[in-house]
Amino acid sequence: MSAAQLVMPIAAPSFGDVRLRAFEERDADMLMDLSTDAYVPKTGSLPGNADHPEALAYIERQSSRLRTGAGYSFCVADKETDEALGTAGLYLAPIAAGRATAGYSVAPRHRGRRVAGHSLIALTRFAWSIPELHRIELYIEPWNTASVRTAEFAGFEREGLLRSHQEIGGERVDMLMYAAIRPTAATG
Ligand SMILES: CC(C)(COP(=O)(O)OP(=O)(O)OC[C@H]1O[C@@H](n2cnc3c(N)ncnc32)[C@H](O)[C@@H]1OP(=O)(O)O)[C@@H](O)C(=O)NCCC(=O)NCCS
Repeated sequence: MSAAQLVMPIAAPSFGDVRLRAFEERDADMLMDLSTDAYVPKTGSLPGNADHPEALAYIERQSSRLRTGAGYSFCVADKETDEALGTAGLYLAPIAAGRATAGYSVAPRHRGRRVAGHSLIALTRFAWSIPELHRIELYIEPWNTASVRTAEFAGFEREGLLRSHQEIGGERVDMLMYAAIRPTAATG
């Protein structure tokens, strides 16, 4: 696959209560809620306590990720109402090696009902529709129990602790490595 050929899937990936679709301007309120989480601004391009123009600028950046081939940045939406609940991303920088990285977040007002777990299952199944992908990786800080639980719910396996892996919020941090590999006839 050439990076320039990325397009949103025609059928929105879905699982359980959620579907993954492109961001729209009406999702700005959800992003403003999400930006009040102290951790989210440290790990992505959404500014802390974003105002409406900053949320709209974030939405514009997500569509450019598709255009440049960087990856798929989905808005997680309620499957019934289409209300925006969070984000789910599949980042394809390492695709030449058959790998992608995934990330997810849920707006504080929508947490506590497995939205991230359902989103990650939908995202992972979508990823296996990309023939070049064989492995999806998650990098999770060890304190982040909600994210660890999400990864395990979606069938990702813990492979180890990457010490002093990267800088977040001005500090070197360890990361747990979780991964899923493409199912085969043998693994289901
Ligand atoms: C991680 C995140 C996406 C999970 O959102 P969610 O889908 O609403 O998760 P839930 O509240 O349904 O929790 C999932 C599990 O974690 C548990 N959990 C949630 N918060 C917890 C906490 N603070 N401490 C311990 N366990 C927690 C829940 O009890 C649930 O456990 P279960 O599997 O036994 O049912 C959300 O917390 C978030 O957006 N965090 C900020 C961004 C982030 O950290 N993203 C991941 C980066 S790797």
